[in-house]
Amino acid sequence: MILVLDFGSQYTQLIARRIREERVYCEIQPYSLPLEEIRRRRPDGIVLSGGPSSIYAESGPRPDPGIFDLRIPLLGICYGLQTLVHHLGGEVRRVGKGEYGRTQVRLTPDAGPLFSGLPEPFTAWMSHGDSVTRLPAGFAVEAVTADGILAAAGDPGRRFFGLQFHPEVEHTEHGRALLRNFLFGVCGARADWDLGDFRREAVRRIREQIGSSARVICGLSGGVDSAVVACLVHEAVGDRLTSIFVDHGLLRHDEADEVMRILRDGFGLRVRRVDAADRFLDRLDGVEDPERKRKIIGEEFIRVFEAEAQKIPGVRFLAQGTLYPDVIESVSVAGPSAHIKSHHNVGGLPERMDLELVEPVKELFKDEVRELGRKLGLPDTVIGRHPFPGPGLAVRILGPVTREAVALLRDADRIYLEELRAASLYDAIWQAFAVLLPVKSVGVMGDERTYANVVALRAVTSVDGMTADWFPMPADVLGRIANRIVNTLPGVNRVVYDVTSKPPATIEWE
Ligand code: XMP
Repeated sequence: MILVLDFGSQYTQLIARRIREERVYCEIQPYSLPLEEIRRRRPDGIVLSGGPSSIYAESGPRPDPGIFDLRIPLLGICYGLQTLVHHLGGEVRRVGKGEYGRTQVRLTPDAGPLFSGLPEPFTAWMSHGDSVTRLPAGFAVEAVTADGILAAAGDPGRRFFGLQFHPEVEHTEHGRALLRNFLFGVCGARADWDLGDFRREAVRRIREQIGSSARVICGLSGGVDSAVVACLVHEAVGDRLTSIFVDHGLLRHDEADEVMRILRDGFGLRVRRVDAADRFLDRLDGVEDPERKRKIIGEEFIRVFEAEAQKIPGVRFLAQGTLYPDVIESVSVAGPSAHIKSHHNVGGLPERMDLELVEPVKELFKDEVRELGRKLGLPDTVIGRHPFPGPGLAVRILGPVTREAVALLRDADRIYLEELRAASLYDAIWQAFAVLLPVKSVGVMGDERTYANVVALRAVTSVDGMTADWFPMPADVLGRIANRIVNTLPGVNRVVYDVTSKPPATIEWE
């Protein structure tokens, strides 16, 4: 395994993902992980991530200095390189304004095993203010930028290497090859991390945790994470799992029925569907404030879920789809990165009902969960479904929630998604949805003047939802969608397309 020590870089998770894509197991831990803990994991190599700090700042994060005596290969990236250099007696200084973005990198005759087989020069992604100005004894400059700034250095004897640029981001050419050279050439890691093994091992661990008689419940949301968890737990304990699907009346078109068709009819899972739309819509009627909408939905969800769970005797466990990004301790210097927890994680319920959590996919990233879902036989409609917020359509109705507004928006959204699928664009988009605006505008249909609602369409590309770009939707597709929405939905006479990225906007409108 490879250990990634996190110094707060926005790219730390990406490093781990790239390593796992090479089928090498890897774990992210905070930079401060004690030496004993590091030893216990017996890593084949350690990656020191980048980070936003300056190495010469008093408060700059420092790893346990014992890691330099472990005789384990080290790869420092950006701040990680500067950590290596600083600790081993070199010098890091602010030189000019630093380098940000794409930079040309040339190798020197000292370029070592990391660069084996790589063409040069190549483009690398830089993001640093400080630079290495003097190397520690034993190190040689392996690559430089066009401005003569050190881009890579290494001490092959000790197997310590450092890169000023980010091999993990797509903008760096040959970044994957470089990481492969580190993993297989330097660390001697084996490419044996496999989701088939993971599935068998997960099923074994679930059986061990739950034992031979206890019962488990699992909340289904319609999304891929909870579906995968339910299928895994079902594989492990069969009908001792009961899944609960709360339909709060704010789901996308056909979503609730589809979940039932696939998981209950297709996979034979025991699913209790609770049609709670009236309860939710009664409480939401006329509510405008987005945070109040979320609060009401969260509270009501827990009530409904708990009432349902109490009908099942002998339940001791709650299975949920916690993912790896939810459990990594963030050491972000600007505070933990903003994280949106789905209310489907039924916060508070485990304590209230005295349930123990079963979290079988908490070591996986989203794309790994999807792959596991495929191995479990889940259809593409579930695997590839766009993310959907827990509070559902309520936060896409700007202004007061009413039953009519929910019905109208659900229809507009259905038309939008149907057209995206027909144009084969659905899978190229991270998330697409319609928003119902609380404004009316004037239009004309036939000879009649209309005064009706505006629907906004949003489509973004993203890797994790933390940042996003608006999707450049082809004009003909936009035209078809707008036509169908305006022509078939009374109450809508205008459609607009959202062309803001995140930041500065968020993906959802509320
Ligand atoms: P924003 O709008 O913050 O969304 O850019 C980022 C991602 O999170 C989803 N989202 C939510 N998910 N409960 C959820 O379960 C929420 O209250 C919530 N708000 C936003 C959003 O759909 C996007 O995928």
